[in-house]
Amino acid sequence: MNFNLPVLAPSILAADFSKLGEQIYQCLEAGIQWIHCDIMDGHFVPNISYGPAIVETVRKIAPEAFLDVHLMIENPDQYIEDFSDAGADLISVHYEACPHLHRTIQNIGQHGCMTGVVINPATSVELLRPILPEVDLVLIMSVNPGFGGQSFIESSVEKVRHLVQLRNDLNQNFLIEIDGGVGLNNIAKLTSAGTDILVAGSSVFKTDNIPARISELTTKALSGTDKVI
Ligand code: DX5
Ligand code: ZN
Repeated sequence: MNFNLPVLAPSILAADFSKLGEQIYQCLEAGIQWIHCDIMDGHFVPNISYGPAIVETVRKIAPEAFLDVHLMIENPDQYIEDFSDAGADLISVHYEACPHLHRTIQNIGQHGCMTGVVINPATSVELLRPILPEVDLVLIMSVNPGFGGQSFIESSVEKVRHLVQLRNDLNQNFLIEIDGGVGLNNIAKLTSAGTDILVAGSSVFKTDNIPARISELTTKALSGTDKVI
């Protein structure tokens, strides 16, 4: 699958679930290609969100969209098949939740999905070195996972730069994604640092005009890159 980078990935956690279909259509019409699905189990993170049935629903609403499934759960191996069957294109698991991360990443790949690893704000990028050749994407959490609408943790920008450097040094080509507190005030800085995929929940959905907001975010995201707008 080819994407025009940088990609804006709305997180439906912040959507109005009574209008989920309508709000997803608004995103698609505004040019969105990726939809970010946040899965929380009330154990790895304090909150409970939704499971494979909602991912399957999103797949039905948006058959062509790229479904980016972020598992904030314990024992992710137990659920990889369910999320793959539900229509996930990419499944990301937390470094902190996987004692056998290499095996879990292999498991995701064997289910035909792209593979992602996620690190919490207190986890160093350096710890990912051994797994980097095995993954398609690295997701840097820029808030502590569990809730939408939190403030962006500034040190995450430096983590993106560090990861870009590691990607060059190791001659790899994984995508770099950021998640949490992304909005109009920081998106250009993030793309300028080298972020490929920008998850945005509140900044996309907590507004009266979703398409206008997507357009503003996209313009600012592009302004941080050397691409012509
Ligand atoms: C946090 C989730 C995020 C969250 C982003 O645990 O992983 O994807 O929904 O929401 P905002 O953009 O509101 O910080
Ligand atoms: Zn997320």
